[in-house]
Amino acid sequence: MPIQHAAIFDLDGVLTDTAELHYQSWQELMDQLGIPFDRQVNESLRGLSRPESLEVILGSRSADFSDAWKQDILRRKNENYIERVRRMTPADLLPGVENLLRALRERGVGVAVASSSRNTGLVLERLGIRPLLDVVVDGNDVPKSKPDPGVFLEAARRLALPPARCVVIEDAAAGVEGAQRAGMRVVGVGPAERVGKADLVRKRVAEVGIEDLLGLFDEGTA
Ligand code: BG6
Ligand code: MG
Repeated sequence: MPIQHAAIFDLDGVLTDTAELHYQSWQELMDQLGIPFDRQVNESLRGLSRPESLEVILGSRSADFSDAWKQDILRRKNENYIERVRRMTPADLLPGVENLLRALRERGVGVAVASSSRNTGLVLERLGIRPLLDVVVDGNDVPKSKPDPGVFLEAARRLALPPARCVVIEDAAAGVEGAQRAGMRVVGVGPAERVGKADLVRKRVAEVGIEDLLGLFDEGTA
């Protein structure tokens, strides 16, 4: 029987703590360059593409730098990040994730990843969970990053499901907004200040139960 519903997971900060690795890479680079950066700025980068992240970090300083310089910074950020990702193992899956993915599959629910990251393939390979996913859409597949709904709509299209039959699990304010603009219900993972606009909020992904997701499907099809 074709799948009737799907859970679409964000990657960084939901399936694994790569949000921290992105932070460490930006922090190391900005320290070298003497450009102010801290965890608070980093919070606003969740879900944004790499070039958009750099623009947020530079803020009003952006106009002082050439495009060639920015390209070089983006390359260095990514090299630094990839070095960290290469050290990842399946043990870096966040607690509860593998059980949740398996439980969804056992119930016949489609499972997808929709991420702004262009390194999604590498991260999933390190985590060893690609066989548990029906569909993967990332920053290489869509022109705009979250909060644009495109990455979620593309996931629904590949799952052959209408958006109302998909539920998204997100840790970023931009991701919550993007999913809602796609017409999907969302579980926000993290503090209410960040993901409070979601239909349901959980502090950690380990606290997202399969019943939470099935309940949101029922609302969607009621
Ligand atoms: C998102 C992260 O998933 O991917 C952002 O939340 C990151 O912090 C973005 O900037 C792009 O990632 P990458 O791997 O293409 O630099
Ligand atoms: Mg995220």
